[in-house]
Amino acid sequence: MPRLILLLLLGAAQGALGWYMVASGLTERVDVSQYRLAAHLTLASVIFAFTAWTIFCLGSRHRTPSSAGDLMAILLLVLVFAQIAMGGFVAGIDAGMGYNTWPKMDGQWIPNGLDAMQPAWRNLFENALTVQFVHRGLAYVLAILVLVHAWNAFSLSGFVLAYGVWLQAAIGVLTLVLHVPLALALAHQAAAMLVLLAAVWHVHRRLARPLPVQDRP
Ligand code: HEM
Repeated sequence: MPRLILLLLLGAAQGALGWYMVASGLTERVDVSQYRLAAHLTLASVIFAFTAWTIFCLGSRHRTPSSAGDLMAILLLVLVFAQIAMGGFVAGIDAGMGYNTWPKMDGQWIPNGLDAMQPAWRNLFENALTVQFVHRGLAYVLAILVLVHAWNAFSLSGFVLAYGVWLQAAIGVLTLVLHVPLALALAHQAAAMLVLLAAVWHVHRRLARPLPVQDRP
């Protein structure tokens, strides 16, 4: 019951955040603030992941993470969240409409102008070059970590997660080099949710202990 009440409250908060996001496009600009869009996307992802976790909890309880592999599975989940939030910034400032080459950006591995804005932190959220560069970079970090982790853990859920991340990265590259056609952008957005689901499922599978029959709902 407490979980379901929390889910209901999160849903209400998402409604309010959605209104706050749309309101940013009603006065001086025709689009919405990328900060509010990324917050709305991230909260949607939290609600989705928490709902999945709640379902996974039916019939099992979870032990405390104890090994390096457990912590890595949780870190991967956190990185997927971070990558989704960063994707929200890419979409929010249409950063995918420029630098449509891969693997290099603007003909360079590390392009000039990543720190063009002052103060420096603004580049991470407002400079299309930097926002796209970070989204690419985080995807590469994730792609390597999931492979190493899947190999070490050698579990079904680990391999599903690795497969999902690599597929998602491939869809991302295609979306970029084809100048963000709507169908591919939607596929990239939907696949991000499947990657998130795989990451939650993987943590659950590592930590789950079945409930005794008499305690099952
Ligand atoms: C694990 C890897 C990745 C994840 C989880 C991920 C996730 C996301 C998400 C959630 C969005 C926001 C979608 C939206 O709200 O419309 C996004 C946008 C985007 N991503 Fe990724 N992404 C990944 C890898 C990549 C890679 C490798 C590239 C290209 C090199 C890429 C290119 C893009 C582009 C161009 C957009 C903007 C699409 C638009 O304007 O609608 N992504 N990504």
